[in-house]
Amino acid sequence: MKNKKVVVTGGAGFIGANISETLCCSNEVTIVDDLSTGRISNVLEFIESKKVKFVKGSVTDLSLLKEAFNGADFVLHQAAIPSVPRSVLDPIKTNEAGITGTLCVLVAARDCGVKKVVYASSSSVYGEMSTLPKREDMEPKPMSPYALTKLAGEHYCRIFTELYGLKTVALRYFNVYGPRQDPVSEYAAVVPKFIDCALKGEAMPIYGDGYQTRDFTYVKDVVRANILAAESEVTGVYNIAGGKKVSIFELARIVSEITGSEMRVQFLEPRTGDVRESWADISKAKRDLGFEPKYSLRAGLEETIKWFKCRERE
Ligand SMILES: NC(=O)c1ccc[n+]([C@@H]2O[C@H](COP(=O)([O-])OP(=O)(O)OC[C@H]3O[C@@H](n4cnc5c(N)ncnc54)[C@H](O)[C@@H]3O)[C@@H](O)[C@H]2O)c1
Repeated sequence: MKNKKVVVTGGAGFIGANISETLCCSNEVTIVDDLSTGRISNVLEFIESKKVKFVKGSVTDLSLLKEAFNGADFVLHQAAIPSVPRSVLDPIKTNEAGITGTLCVLVAARDCGVKKVVYASSSSVYGEMSTLPKREDMEPKPMSPYALTKLAGEHYCRIFTELYGLKTVALRYFNVYGPRQDPVSEYAAVVPKFIDCALKGEAMPIYGDGYQTRDFTYVKDVVRANILAAESEVTGVYNIAGGKKVSIFELARIVSEITGSEMRVQFLEPRTGDVRESWADISKAKRDLGFEPKYSLRAGLEETIKWFKCRERE
């Protein structure tokens, strides 16, 4: 993508900052973020070097969005409170950012004549399925308030395409990991948590027996998927994933191996709202978007662990 005006909502967060970093060299990038879970340090160097414009505010603020979206070609909508356990504790906050926020983004995009909105959806919309891998034509069964907000956002995208002709794509990300992901919050995702524990010589926490599976996706593959989705003509829902099923126990083993630490794990009670198995069929994204994950789990983890080690030394 070149010479486009792109707005990244949630651009100070983990995925949004990686997207902004990739796009800001050859495009005009504006970030809208309320810094509720994101960090300004994720994008400070791009703001200071004037490669990125930063607007602090919420995606529930329609007039702020209309100002930020003015003249934009694409909106890459990443803003949300992205945690299943957090949504179980505070469903109203998750609902506000996820559903009201997405509706406001779509209204502002429609009114500003944005060419396309790419929406960050989630594998969590599927819930527990007896058939694997998970395909876009299977009936979703969200198991948490977070998953429900993601599914509602997808429906809003479809409705805005049908009613108002606003082009939208919803990308169902499967367990994204990579540089800038928060390792220390109580809602930290499994990959940064395991890396942080391994580097500190602490036991990696496993909720349940460790045989639950996830389909891990390196963030650079997610960034590429966003660009492909924005530039393509298609609309609709797409799985974006590494396309491999890996157990949490196996993840702990690989992280220990790459960090060169002794494998230590601590088993904890399973968490409410978490699914047992997650594995994506990515053939639709391959066919329509030309999406192919470029990073194996090991290659992505090697880059991520290198980044965490550099950060530790700073
Ligand atoms: N990380 C994953 O594995 C994963 C998987 C599936 C889907 N997703 C989706 O990808 C998107 C990005 O997730 P992430 O992992 O980078 O999380 P993140 O918490 O690092 O980023 C989310 C960003 O949104 C911002 N935000 C939250 N509420 C906002 C609001 N009301 N207004 C403006 N900004 C707001 C936060 O401050 C943060 O910077 C989310 O929509 C999430 O649901 C992530």
